[in-house]
Amino acid sequence: MPILTQLPAWRALWQHFSRARDWSMRELFDTDPQRAERYWLEQDGLILDYSKNRITDQTLTLLLQLAREAEAPERIAAMFRGEPINTTEHRAVLHVALRSPPDAPIRVGGEDVMPKVTRVLDRMARFAHAVRSGDWLGYTHQPITDIVSIGIGGSDLGPLMVCEALKAYAHPRLTMHFVSNVDSSLLKETLKRVHAETTLFIIESKTFTTSETLTNAHTAREWFLSRAGDAGAVARHFVAVSTNPKAVADFGIDPAHMFEFWDWVGGRYSLWSAIGLPIMLCLGEENFRALLAGAHSMDTHFRTAPLEANMPVLLALVGIWYINFFGGGSHVIAPYDQYLHRFPAFIQQLDMESNGKQRTRDGRLVDYETAPIIWGGTGINGQHAFFQLLHQGTHIAPIDLIASLDGRGSLPGHHEILLGNMFAQAEAFLRGKTLDEARAELRAAGLDEPAVQALAPFKVFDGNRPTNTLLLQRLDPRCLGALIALYEHKIFVQGAIWQINSFDQWGVELGKQLAHTIVGELEGSAETAAHDSSTARLIALYRRMNQEKTTKGRGKTAL
Ligand code: F6P
Repeated sequence: MPILTQLPAWRALWQHFSRARDWSMRELFDTDPQRAERYWLEQDGLILDYSKNRITDQTLTLLLQLAREAEAPERIAAMFRGEPINTTEHRAVLHVALRSPPDAPIRVGGEDVMPKVTRVLDRMARFAHAVRSGDWLGYTHQPITDIVSIGIGGSDLGPLMVCEALKAYAHPRLTMHFVSNVDSSLLKETLKRVHAETTLFIIESKTFTTSETLTNAHTAREWFLSRAGDAGAVARHFVAVSTNPKAVADFGIDPAHMFEFWDWVGGRYSLWSAIGLPIMLCLGEENFRALLAGAHSMDTHFRTAPLEANMPVLLALVGIWYINFFGGGSHVIAPYDQYLHRFPAFIQQLDMESNGKQRTRDGRLVDYETAPIIWGGTGINGQHAFFQLLHQGTHIAPIDLIASLDGRGSLPGHHEILLGNMFAQAEAFLRGKTLDEARAELRAAGLDEPAVQALAPFKVFDGNRPTNTLLLQRLDPRCLGALIALYEHKIFVQGAIWQINSFDQWGVELGKQLAHTIVGELEGSAETAAHDSSTARLIALYRRMNQEKTTKGRGKTAL
């Protein structure tokens, strides 16, 4: 495997950076009238304007050379061939198979996986149709009105984000609820709003061992049984999605009510699999298939387009330019669309759990930055909150501004204000405001000269702050599928260049192990193990408080 920092393109980029660090984007635009046209790409209903970045043609040439020297094209091909590129878990990485047409074989260890992908998708469709049409009845023979999805991380964020994003397409009778946090307040508040007779629970867990999900699932089942009074009723109200049929059966769900997926689907890449069942229930088969089709179209573009016209590759490379050369440690996702309000949280897991690594695939410690910190929120609200730092703070974070062009579903006047603000922000980040401009503005506003001199420095915006503008033709299932796939592949390309495995997540293990021990200690069922003095004190405090509560009769409440 090549060593990234010894690649000729890496070294050439550092030399190039010594000049590029001082470039002004204002000047780049002033001296290159074709810039916006050149750094513009349209694909699968998405438009990417990446002109407002501190790049030139030469920067892109060198970054593309880096991608080739780091063997990114070989990694991309290996993923699509079904090779076990998740090396620490010896697994293929084939979320792309889940949205692939059924007639083109995709093999994992010699087996064509497409027949089983098709079989599960068809089962999901039949089940979704039965629930949506009202044919699937609860134990008192009433149609389902509420769906409670219980899962966490990748078994929650994707379905939740998509159901929110495509709410305009939701079934009018079905209300979706998502329970992830083991803090019982979420489950409690959810159960207050539903009725056992008309609620369907979907237990979503790849491993079916995740303690938060199983705890919520057990509590939900107790709640259900306390109302239905008959264990036989569970079959009409609980289904599972998992790769682990034995654990599902042990929980008490008939495997006939389990929707399967496979170990070659990573948790954070699983919304396209049976984990997408809440999506299919909410939006219907046709819309779910349109979501898959949009993602597949982006897959085909990613696999076949030349690197220099490849949307995920270009986004990845521009990101690398900041992370590794400018030293930008964070990246902002700012959708100007309320329906996309969960998109930043979804991308946060996708990126940070995939590329938050410090060892290369062959076990060496990296000596360069990897995943940025992903954060954000809806852009228009962000403008009145965290954008101050983005404009005048000391930390420079590239920003993805995302919106849909089609304002037809919007109330009169709203969409223009929304998009007008987004375009204005992108322009402000690019242009900034010089001291002279600030002074001129204050003079024009009638301030006297001492006031102008005193205030002007605070009115200066450095500008030169990078943004990508991503426009969806409209926020529909197809465009959303393409958008999600775009980010999945962008993240993969960055991981490939950094020589890391983007598909494992060992970093979540230690906390889980320690929690297992400490939970026993808090419950009082285990002796206190050796801890640092801070942890020991916290445990002792909880135990003392908990004893006091029990003595005073203020113990745990039942649902
Ligand atoms: O703890 C992290 C994680 O393993 C994620 O990668 C995953 O998406 C989530 O937990 C849920 O896991 P499961 O689907 O097995 O319950």
